[in-house]
Amino acid sequence: MKEVNRILHGGDYNPNQWPEEEWQEDLSWFQKAHLNSVTLNVFSWAVLQPSEDEYDFSQLDRMIALYEHAGFDIVLATATAALPAWLVKRYPEVSRTDFEGRRQKFGKRHNACPNSLVYQHFARSLAGKLARRYGENPAVKLWHINNEYSGACFCENCEKAFRRWLRQRYKTPENLNAAWNTEFWSHKIYDWDEIVAPNRLSESQSKRDSAFEGMSVDYRRFNSDSLLNNFRMERDEIRRYDKTTPVTTNLMGTYKTLNYQRWGPEMDIVSWDNYPGDFDAPSMVALRHGVMRGLKAGKPFWIMEQNPTQQTYMGFTKKEPGKMRAWSYQALANGADALLYFQLKNSIGASEKYCGSVISHAGHKETRVFREVTQLGAELKKLGGQFLGAKVPAHVGIIYDWESYWALDYDRYRGTNKDLDYVETVHHHYAFFYQQHIPVDFISPQEDLTPYKLIVAPVLYMVGEALQKRLEAYVRQGGNLVVTYASGIVNESTNVIPGGYPGAFRELAGIIVEENDFLDTGMENRAQFAGKKVYPCEQTCDVIHLQGAQVIAQFADENYFYKGLPAVTVHEYGKGRVWYIGTRFRQSGLRTLLGDICGQSHIVPLVNRSTGLEITRRDTDKAAYFFLINHTAEPRPVPEEFVGCTNILTDMKIDKSLTLKKYDVLIIRQ
Ligand code: GLA
Ligand code: ZN
Repeated sequence: MKEVNRILHGGDYNPNQWPEEEWQEDLSWFQKAHLNSVTLNVFSWAVLQPSEDEYDFSQLDRMIALYEHAGFDIVLATATAALPAWLVKRYPEVSRTDFEGRRQKFGKRHNACPNSLVYQHFARSLAGKLARRYGENPAVKLWHINNEYSGACFCENCEKAFRRWLRQRYKTPENLNAAWNTEFWSHKIYDWDEIVAPNRLSESQSKRDSAFEGMSVDYRRFNSDSLLNNFRMERDEIRRYDKTTPVTTNLMGTYKTLNYQRWGPEMDIVSWDNYPGDFDAPSMVALRHGVMRGLKAGKPFWIMEQNPTQQTYMGFTKKEPGKMRAWSYQALANGADALLYFQLKNSIGASEKYCGSVISHAGHKETRVFREVTQLGAELKKLGGQFLGAKVPAHVGIIYDWESYWALDYDRYRGTNKDLDYVETVHHHYAFFYQQHIPVDFISPQEDLTPYKLIVAPVLYMVGEALQKRLEAYVRQGGNLVVTYASGIVNESTNVIPGGYPGAFRELAGIIVEENDFLDTGMENRAQFAGKKVYPCEQTCDVIHLQGAQVIAQFADENYFYKGLPAVTVHEYGKGRVWYIGTRFRQSGLRTLLGDICGQSHIVPLVNRSTGLEITRRDTDKAAYFFLINHTAEPRPVPEEFVGCTNILTDMKIDKSLTLKKYDVLIIRQ
């Protein structure tokens, strides 16, 4: 496979939106900004293929030649994410039918029906033609297939494909009826073709509810697989002609609709588009990086897109010099090996004309943004390739599970517990580790658990038998496991595991949860720990009875009938231990509780106190790299552990008086 030996710094560029006379000038500005990479051809299908049997690569040839000669590394897209008008006109089936049941006309992008054979045929042909023409070009370093695969289709083609998918999964209608619990509301199926796609016309009022969660979760699985098949199809077609250029598609962090954990193994390099909003805590952004890093068992990923200044989809962006640089280093700190922008030059028309770029509407000028990109470019150049491939050493694994996310999304469990949000709750528990400088891997339910001293399973709502067994084995052999409320409740078909909550974890945790009390927004309960420490808790309170476990904390507010019953328990199981957290603590309670658990699990933080900084570590065979970032407005002193070390961004020795101001970054090699 072709490799890259520097941190790529570049991004999406659409020269076809500009007169060719400007191309050279654009290039010289990119060089001035120390860019070394360009992503071409993301939305050029209509240019490359003016009609069904006509292709024209001449313009793309010229773009590629220009950047190849300039020594850039090229990320080449297959251009299949926006359909040409002629294709939709001639074959309306290539368009999706939406959740409301409406067949879409020509327009927008990211909206081809994944199960349309016509779409598949044309997309595959284009990818193959590009691979044949450019695959051997040494400047082409990565294939960027399609763009931000997303959404879902509910057309008749998809409905038929769904039936085939179900047949494979369940073999008989009886199995399917059992899985979907179709005795409820007379939904029994006798023949496969009685099944319809679950959408607004059938089982759902909105995208976040379903009368039959099992069916809707299956549809998400099916739709995610359908889009993944589109990806595989283009990849395999590329591989027929080009064996050496790695392949990616740009993912979107914790994006709900696609189970990226099934995508990661199919990609040579994971890449994703990082667009933090001003409302996002830096720890949420770190979580997204972590989830993306987890897709290929810790292998570094690429930032395929980030914005040099402002997004157009966020409602607002507070501009602050230094912010983009801090985000960029945060990505590197959490496992990225490349930093690419959307976009290098602003368009003058259509919906993204205000989406910020390296060359803005002001044109070829040294704008503030241009200067910041240039500074970052110079720094990346200085860093060179020294930590490319470096891994994040983590002893804590947090299980992140798309299927639990989906199940909770459709499920009435949320109907009675409206503030429970999957990603938010995972983040809430992760925030402790982030603040305490404890490296974490986000792992899928299929991942090997044995490398970890501590596994945390926040709101792991859906647990299949295989995962249950693996977690049992992990604990029996001495592993430490933390499980929270809303975990282990349903099986893979979203049916409740009977016998008392938390179904799959009942034995492991040595408890039985008889019922749950869901509190309204703003309502508070309290839990008391040994030593009389009392911490507020909220949202979910489990009514727990012990079945072998010991109490760590108990509910303490007399306004609740379960006062005195356990809120947190621990259970010895085999050689290991299982903690059960039966309520949502604020950070104050989590600090004490998870702090103790980490101590007992022999987890050593990078710095053993909260500093207000983000501190991470990446290791190569030769060295350890520590990244220190201040995302806050308050100046923060350098932790004494790093005094005397050298900041490799500046080659300056770090002395005691150094403080990190807002958005300051230090990188230390040891
Ligand atoms: C996404 C897309 C890009 C562009 C940017 C705008 O990430 O992949 O094509 O639309 O957003 O921020
Ligand atoms: Zn469809």
